[in-house]
Amino acid sequence: MKFPSSPFQLAILSILSVVTVSWATSDPLVNIDDFLQCLSKQSQSTSSIHAAIYTPQNTSFQSVLSDRIKNRRFSTSTTPKPLAIVAAKHEYHVQATVLCAKQQGLQIRIRSGGHDYEGLSYVSHVPFIILDMFQLQSINVNVAEKTAWVQSGATLGQVYYKIAEKSNVLGFPAGVGPTVGAGGHFSGGGYGSLMRKYGLSIDNIIDAKIVVADGRVLDRKSMGEDLFWAIRGGGGASFGVILSWKLKLVSVPAKVTVFNVSITLEQGATDVVYKWQYAAPLLPKDLFLRVRPLQVNSTGRKKTVKVSFIGLFLGRINKLLPLVKERLPELGLQRSDCFEMSWIENIVFFADFPIGTPITTLLNRTNGQPSFFKAKSDYVTKPIPKRVIESLWKEMIKIDNFWMDWNPYGGRMGEIPESATPSPHRAGNLFLIQYYAVWVEEGVEAASKYLQLSRKLFDLMTPYVSKNPREAFQNYRDLEIGANLDNQTNFQIAKIYGSKYFKGNFDRLVRVKTMVDPHNFFKHEQSIPPV
Ligand SMILES: Cc1cc2nc3c(=O)[nH]c(=O)nc-3n(C[C@H](O)[C@H](O)[C@H](O)COP(=O)(O)OP(=O)(O)OC[C@H]3O[C@@H](n4cnc5c(N)ncnc54)[C@H](O)[C@@H]3O)c2cc1C
Ligand SMILES: *[C@@H]1O[C@H](CO)[C@@H](O)[C@H](O)[C@H]1NC(C)=O
Ligand SMILES: *[C@@H]1O[C@H](CO)[C@@H](O)[C@H](O)[C@H]1NC(C)=O
Ligand SMILES: *[C@@H]1O[C@H](CO)[C@@H](O)[C@H](O)[C@H]1NC(C)=O
Ligand SMILES: *[C@@H]1O[C@H](CO)[C@@H](O)[C@H](O)[C@H]1NC(C)=O
Ligand SMILES: *[C@@H]1O[C@H](CO)[C@@H](O)[C@H](O)[C@H]1NC(C)=O
Repeated sequence: MKFPSSPFQLAILSILSVVTVSWATSDPLVNIDDFLQCLSKQSQSTSSIHAAIYTPQNTSFQSVLSDRIKNRRFSTSTTPKPLAIVAAKHEYHVQATVLCAKQQGLQIRIRSGGHDYEGLSYVSHVPFIILDMFQLQSINVNVAEKTAWVQSGATLGQVYYKIAEKSNVLGFPAGVGPTVGAGGHFSGGGYGSLMRKYGLSIDNIIDAKIVVADGRVLDRKSMGEDLFWAIRGGGGASFGVILSWKLKLVSVPAKVTVFNVSITLEQGATDVVYKWQYAAPLLPKDLFLRVRPLQVNSTGRKKTVKVSFIGLFLGRINKLLPLVKERLPELGLQRSDCFEMSWIENIVFFADFPIGTPITTLLNRTNGQPSFFKAKSDYVTKPIPKRVIESLWKEMIKIDNFWMDWNPYGGRMGEIPESATPSPHRAGNLFLIQYYAVWVEEGVEAASKYLQLSRKLFDLMTPYVSKNPREAFQNYRDLEIGANLDNQTNFQIAKIYGSKYFKGNFDRLVRVKTMVDPHNFFKHEQSIPPV
């Protein structure tokens, strides 16, 4: 092992010498004090790590735990809690946490933005600690080089804001939720309204820094191309802790155009959605046109579905209007529906804030009170027949506040080979569906009602979506997709969810995992297993 001789890294060296291979036969009775002592040992020789450690004895433990919980299903009195949270303030805190947890046979969960749909970044069913990355949020934009180094704890909103601060003609292709964390989002693929022009986030990431199971910090050069391939879409939490990413920024015009046209079923939404399936994936790369059907249940009115057609065009209104008129005249897009703005203002618009909201809102990391939700995903390769869309609405109307996103593929997405990154869903897909059930009622009964309804709707779609395997998007994590039969080994189960998320890339992910973490220190319910 070769270390640069900074004091931080020297401190890690002293830990390394303490660490033995005892974790392989670890004691099931985990002693958190030994873990904390291990961390302390390291703080004697460096600045204090104490200010980064929260145990249930610290008054702010609960708020640090719950501030970054995005799904209330995993924030109840019965949700298992961590023994401690290490909210790393320096990169060597990450190294120390990995080494000490390994030494004590303690499982870690890595959290950046906390948006994991199944709470895997902050819940485990064995004794565990959370390694929280939220204090590592620096962003360095280099306009001349058109790159940015971004620490994992930064949010997408911060990333976009910092880029815009330096240039109004540079952007980055990633998701729409401003509070989503760079750590989980990029390692899971990352897509948003620039995907048809530039692909996924991972298609535009050119370097990274990671702490691997033996405590070393590696960059692209020292980790090698296999591991660098794996962490861009294969899920970081199987391979190590990603400290930071280097993004290749992309060009955006000084003015873009956005619109959001809503049509109810009564106004003929079904026909427009049906036609959209043919038009949207073939549109020029500069136009991203998403469909968002939403169940509406306004008091005193009949329950129905309202479909929003939300668009981003990398150009001006004058060019957009004739294009939509030619390709999807059914939408009836008017000049008055369209708004020209800077690219950064479009980010605020897509995040559902009213036009005119200051862009500083993107820096707000505070989550409101989270709701309970369950999401699922599907890839569609053939247009869905009109009668099926109609029966989909019928099911949807039964589920209060249920919504979907239909995100068009094609464009750049169709040009990138399936094996270029672990994320295989490329050419041949018309669109990705996200199903999203959301509720506010507390208790297991309400949860099981909504879970059942969403499964029913998902089952209805089986014949009309991808098959063998029925593919799924890793950033929309869904624990229901790994059929969990008692007679299956963990590896057989992993092969099920692995082939849905990664198709043929699963085998290469297993090879990389076996090479970098053969003892499976970095694991969770849907991680990549070693052979
Ligand atoms: C409101 C909302 C909007 C969203 N919009 C989009 C969208 O437009 N496009 C899209 O693609 N996705 C979207 N997502 C999904 C989102 O990309 C994923 O949930 C993503 O994994 C969240 O990353 P995170 O850091 O916030 O989550 P976390 O819960 O912190 O992490 C998610 C997973 O990544 C692991 N992980 C986190 N940080 C690290 C790290 N530093 N090193 C290694 N592993 C790590 C965690 O252990 C966990 O397994 C959205 C989610 C929400 C809730
Ligand atoms: C938590 O409490 C311990 C013990 O009092 C203290 O050393 C530590 O600094 C506290 N952590 C934080 C983040 O304040
Ligand atoms: C939806 O409508 C039903 C009555 O049809 C009502 O009982 C329910 O509370 C409404 N839900 C919401 C979230 O408004
Ligand atoms: C689009 O309009 C719908 C319906 O009015 C609304 O619920 C949604 O928040 C809007 N979305 C965006 C991105 O503006
Ligand atoms: C930040 O977001 C939270 C949650 O949505 C909101 O309650 C709060 O008012 C926002 N703060 C600012 C300064 O906008
Ligand atoms: C496991 O059980 C299921 C159903 O009981 C059966 O269909 C399947 O073949 C079994 N698989 C193995 C590997 O034994």
